[in-house]
Amino acid sequence: MINHLPKAELHIHIEGSLEPELMLTLAERNGLPAPFSSIQDAQAAYAFSDLQSFLDIYYKGAGVLITEQDFYDMTWAYLLRCRAEAVLHTEIFFDPQTHTERGIDISTVINGIDRALQDAKNQWGQSSHLILCFLRHLSSEAAMETLEQALPYKDKLIGVGLDSSEMGHPPSKFQAVFERAISEGLLTVAHAGEEGPADYIWQALDLLKVSRIDHGVRCIEDEQLMERLIAEQIPLTVCPQSNLKLCVVDDMSQHNILDLLNRGLLVTTNSDDPAYFGGYLNKNYDALVEHLNMTQEQAVQLARNSFTASFLSEQQKILFNQKINNYLAER
Ligand code: ADE
Ligand code: ZN
Repeated sequence: MINHLPKAELHIHIEGSLEPELMLTLAERNGLPAPFSSIQDAQAAYAFSDLQSFLDIYYKGAGVLITEQDFYDMTWAYLLRCRAEAVLHTEIFFDPQTHTERGIDISTVINGIDRALQDAKNQWGQSSHLILCFLRHLSSEAAMETLEQALPYKDKLIGVGLDSSEMGHPPSKFQAVFERAISEGLLTVAHAGEEGPADYIWQALDLLKVSRIDHGVRCIEDEQLMERLIAEQIPLTVCPQSNLKLCVVDDMSQHNILDLLNRGLLVTTNSDDPAYFGGYLNKNYDALVEHLNMTQEQAVQLARNSFTASFLSEQQKILFNQKINNYLAER
């Protein structure tokens, strides 16, 4: 039922979709030392104890991306997964600073990703949006400079986000950058409450004016926050496999996603960094069935929420919801 259920993905870092095989191909193509000596070595290294232990390896892996074609090939591989998994709409994060810090021009990054998005749209009608994320472990000045570099490509972006090391880098650090992005007509999202406290979720809402919270699972520690998220139907883009691999939860059977859903929060399920966390979107749905006994109704609700929480127009949301209805009626 899940494999072909129409759904959207709202939390996917495109650099986190770079599979070891393509990483090794790109390293060779670009005459760079391979980050790993084999695919098995890479997979063995993907044993993380927390967010930072993952980020260290993830940024190293992204170092093989040099040319526009590299960004195209990485994005294309992910879009083929979308087609295979009935991900009819996807909102993709990218981290320009991971590349501009290595001397790659932001135009190389954006044009490579965007060309793949346009080709997928033309070939099978793949729907997508692109979200530029600032690295929160870097300075707010660096984020502002990145925003200025990106503004000539504003038409290719739906919004901006905030990712990387959460602890010690509160949303408040980026208030001025987000204000500038909003003044340019961009929407905003932020990772908050993944490892960081519920207070970071309040800050993301009140200071960064976000439309969605990425992760947000620690909201459960703050009842007043829970009531606000329910009342305002602020979406959470939850990533179950990621939370397990980064030890945000000890065991999938302890994940709170269905508790949040049952309380009436607008939660969605997403893959985050599928090449590193053991699977794409359908694997995340499957894990909830296997470990949390998710019902068919709950799976369908998560899929409906994924469109509701997206940055699609109201009319597009209705059309995608009808696709879910048609799929269920024809089964
Ligand atoms: N960058 C890629 N994946 C991330 C995550 N789960 N949290 C913060 N930054 C990220
Ligand atoms: Zn993320």
